[in-house]
Amino acid sequence: MRHKEEQVNRIALVTGASKGLGAAIAARLADTGLAVAVNYHRDRSGAEAVVKQIRKAEGMAEAFQADVTDVDGVKALIEAVSLRMGAPTVLVNNATGPQPFIPIERQEWRDYQAQLDFFLKAPLLLVQRVLPYMKSAGFGRVINIGSEVVELGNAEFSHYVAAKAAMLGITRSWANELGQYGITVNLVAPGWIPVKRHEGTPQSELDAYGAGLPLNRMGKPDEVGDAVAFLASERSGFITGQRIAVNGGKTLS
Ligand SMILES: NC(=O)c1ccc[n+]([C@@H]2O[C@H](COP(=O)([O-])OP(=O)(O)OC[C@H]3O[C@@H](n4cnc5c(N)ncnc54)[C@H](OP(=O)(O)O)[C@@H]3O)[C@@H](O)[C@H]2O)c1
Repeated sequence: MRHKEEQVNRIALVTGASKGLGAAIAARLADTGLAVAVNYHRDRSGAEAVVKQIRKAEGMAEAFQADVTDVDGVKALIEAVSLRMGAPTVLVNNATGPQPFIPIERQEWRDYQAQLDFFLKAPLLLVQRVLPYMKSAGFGRVINIGSEVVELGNAEFSHYVAAKAAMLGITRSWANELGQYGITVNLVAPGWIPVKRHEGTPQSELDAYGAGLPLNRMGKPDEVGDAVAFLASERSGFITGQRIAVNGGKTLS
């Protein structure tokens, strides 16, 4: 169902939108009237299903293959989106690779680099390519998908935690630098929101996590999509450099 406040003619690019939170974010953005470029890396059928679902709900979407950690891949991606849909002025940095737990003794520098590729390198490559469009429109929304792990400091996860902390750093710095052009930069920090890759997690584990939250339940991918859709809209125009936790209140104390 399309919402009243439509963002006609605006193009949003969501990285890693073939499944998981990215797919839900893409669908919610399309609900608000944005035309959505659904980026995927390997899962073409997943991305096509997301596009189909959006079109079925009378939204606008197209799928675009690209490795967002690769400089040439990002260049080709932004060129293709601009050509086929128009210049993107909403960018959601969501894509992630594998997130293994590794004890300190077994960590290698490349484990950190692998996470930094997704949460620092890819957002930088992408923002550099879309900035000219945002500046000339006098409007831009950059929404980075972070994580509550920065507050929680999960054990055996410092490579991922450090890269998500770096993502918060660029969010704040870019907000200061780009505000003068009407571009806001914010970070949405989800808690544990089960998606396909969590299939097989024992129900008892899910129940225990949900029961430990102030809101007493697990979150849903659409709830992350709602927060992103608000930050992508005109209505969020005086909010920048902020981290918004979507985690049932887990990090409130
Ligand atoms: N789910 C959670 O509980 C949770 C909690 C906190 C934060 N987050 C954050 O939320 C974001 C989404 O997580 P998720 O759980 O939804 O992940 P997911 O279900 O594993 O999906 C990952 C997405 O990233 C894409 N991707 C992988 N490598 C890529 C590359 N090189 N270039 C472009 N796209 C690539 C995948 O595309 P293909 O499948 O097409 O290859 C897929 O669409 C991540 O930033 C994650 O850190 C998630």
